[in-house]
Amino acid sequence: MNKPQILIIDCGSQYTLVIQRTLAEIGLQSEIVEPEKSLPWIKTNKPKGIILSGGSASVYDNDAPKIPKEILILGIPILGICYGMQWIAHIIGDGALVIRETNPDNKGYGATKISISPHIKDTLFEDIPDYLTVWSNHGDMVGNVPKGFVDIAHSATVLQAMSNREKKIWGVQFHPEVTHTELGKTILKNFVYRICECTSDWHVEDIIKKIEDEIEKNVNGSSVSLGVSGGVDSSTLGMIAANVLGHRLHSFIIDHGAMRHNEIEEVKNSLFRAGLRNLKVVDASEKFIREVEKYTDAEKKRNIAFKPMYTETFIEESKSAGAGFILQGTIAPDEIESGGVGKSALIKSHHNVGLDFGIPQLKPFSGLFKYQVRDIARKIGLPKEIAERQPFPGPGLFVRVVGIPATRFNIGIVRKADDTVTKILKRHKLYDNISQLVVALLGVNTVGVKGDDRVYKPIIAIRPVQTVDFMTTEPYYIPREVEAEINSEVCKHPEVCRAMFDYTPKPPATTEFE
Ligand code: XMP
Repeated sequence: MNKPQILIIDCGSQYTLVIQRTLAEIGLQSEIVEPEKSLPWIKTNKPKGIILSGGSASVYDNDAPKIPKEILILGIPILGICYGMQWIAHIIGDGALVIRETNPDNKGYGATKISISPHIKDTLFEDIPDYLTVWSNHGDMVGNVPKGFVDIAHSATVLQAMSNREKKIWGVQFHPEVTHTELGKTILKNFVYRICECTSDWHVEDIIKKIEDEIEKNVNGSSVSLGVSGGVDSSTLGMIAANVLGHRLHSFIIDHGAMRHNEIEEVKNSLFRAGLRNLKVVDASEKFIREVEKYTDAEKKRNIAFKPMYTETFIEESKSAGAGFILQGTIAPDEIESGGVGKSALIKSHHNVGLDFGIPQLKPFSGLFKYQVRDIARKIGLPKEIAERQPFPGPGLFVRVVGIPATRFNIGIVRKADDTVTKILKRHKLYDNISQLVVALLGVNTVGVKGDDRVYKPIIAIRPVQTVDFMTTEPYYIPREVEAEINSEVCKHPEVCRAMFDYTPKPPATTEFE
């Protein structure tokens, strides 16, 4: 494959990989590099454009990301996003002022209306209307631009974009990479295709070939084990790996006791029909539940109970199959939110990140987003029930029993509720409108009446979300009459007297409750 034409310098933003994903969506490969390593990378790879990501630091912090100043005089077009724009203004100086915001209440966060400066229609805003809504997430902001720069967009109180066409430098205060920004992709397209003059180079066939080559080259004749969860990531990887490795692939699915109703059987049957014939089911439910039910704290549940159990079971299976390599279907958002990329913060420890099996691991999907894996799944002919399958967390219903122990009994309650809601949504043909349905048991007892008796029971929460990449989500509003049907059916369970619908977007709420 060709060298990436765009370099993304990671200044510690949650959205750095989202920039990469959005560039892939508009047909371009890119490379993410830490600030310290960027100059040698540029000299070797000669990119056509550079994007500086956002980040949580202030340019005034001592430990702010150290981007080499030299990049500003190389003549390669640069787009600074959020922190990236502030860094440009601060380093160039020359009359510029970055205003430091120390009061968290004054930080610019959420949807912001901006207007594009009418007298200077910059190439960055070609095909963009005069007014649009963008997504902001910043504290500091640029007050005055450096000499030679012009204000090309602003909101009521904040300078939103600046440029210096002669120096080939652009800055935006908002985040064009997130789906909440209207026409964000057009803005990025303008930068990479109109300003940097890149040519499209991201094609699914190339990615499949690259993954096949990576597996073949790294495993070098050994047997390989792969834990399949039933989701699109591990199933797609399983099909690609089976193609490359044949009988050297040992694939298995762990029944940890917190799967959904009939899930193991359904997954086994669909994968069998798709051609993965020797998937083994490992029943480890007793030991998983015994360990996980000891904890109610979300991070302890994952890190102290689930992860070690998962690792132990994985090692046992891999050793018994004589595997010299482990394949993992970990994708980019798992790594980002577990704090595994650059300087981004830990949001939650996804169960399959940072595991040590004592056996070498390969994660061929670690730079990909869910929609890209789905593209690959469709390309290799996986059936719709796998290619379009909603994601489900590795620790399953364990992370959907919140605030009370995930005992077999409590898991049973949420499993039943999940099945009830899923069936109703499917019957009304609404299920496919939802990117992920989360049904959880919230361990707060509330008073209810069942028959003539007072009951005191926890709550079932129903959270339908829509998203492209799970870095941000929007609520999917269930029609009123279907809500009423769900409510009535879920509350028929003797252990449930209250059901609630959660329509909070991400951010601020994550997709899962814990
Ligand atoms: P959050 O809750 O972080 O979820 O917005 C984003 C996506 O990740 C899934 N998720 C997990 N997947 N292991 C997984 O394999 C985990 O520990 C885990 N936690 C969350 C979640 O279901 C959603 O699709």
